[in-house]
Amino acid sequence: MPNYINISVVHLKNPEELDRALRIRKQVFHVEQGYSMEIELDGQDDTAQHWVATCDKINEDGTIEHNFDIGVVRLIPKEEGVAKLGRLAVLPCGRGLSIGKKLVDAFIAYCKENGFHTIVLHSQYPRRGFYEKCGFSAKEGQDQVFEEAGTPHIKMWLHP
Ligand SMILES: CC(C)(COP(=O)(O)OP(=O)(O)OC[C@H]1O[C@@H](n2cnc3c(N)ncnc32)[C@H](O)[C@@H]1OP(=O)(O)O)[C@@H](O)C(=O)NCCC(=O)NCCS
Repeated sequence: MPNYINISVVHLKNPEELDRALRIRKQVFHVEQGYSMEIELDGQDDTAQHWVATCDKINEDGTIEHNFDIGVVRLIPKEEGVAKLGRLAVLPCGRGLSIGKKLVDAFIAYCKENGFHTIVLHSQYPRRGFYEKCGFSAKEGQDQVFEEAGTPHIKMWLHP
């Protein structure tokens, strides 16, 4: 099995780099999870901020692929001081290596430094345990499961 080392999270500042994020999202949300590309490309990417987790991939034959992009997350600014976290995805080959957590930690650090007092997200219901481990929680009275893009979700918050 390949190894993934030197994992770092990069804030994409150049719009031309958006493809790096979209490649991973297409693979995870469209190919793996079956969401349509119309849902995946929701028209909000241009006004969003994007982060990519990248690493060195060491193949079984010893060759190394540098700058191997393996995860992604997106921030959409909402009303004053509120950031929406979305499109968090790690390629199947990189799961369980704390890459998702690293992406969320980078996102939270950015929010702290940039005046966002609230982070909100719509978690796919089976993923809520992951977000709980990252410090998010549902709010009493607003913890009902709802359908979004055809699958069950729950709203969660964190105040960084
Ligand atoms: C959800 C996802 C981003 C997690 O990424 P990951 O890199 O595998 O997660 P991490 O290794 O950083 O996990 C951090 C912790 O959360 C736990 N965790 C991961 N997925 C979990 C889940 N579905 N339920 C409960 N806990 C989970 C891990 O066990 C780990 O716990 P630990 O710190 O006690 O060891 C990844 O599984 C993924 O891309 N899934 C498909 C896309 C998706 O569903 N995105 C979310 C849409 S809302």
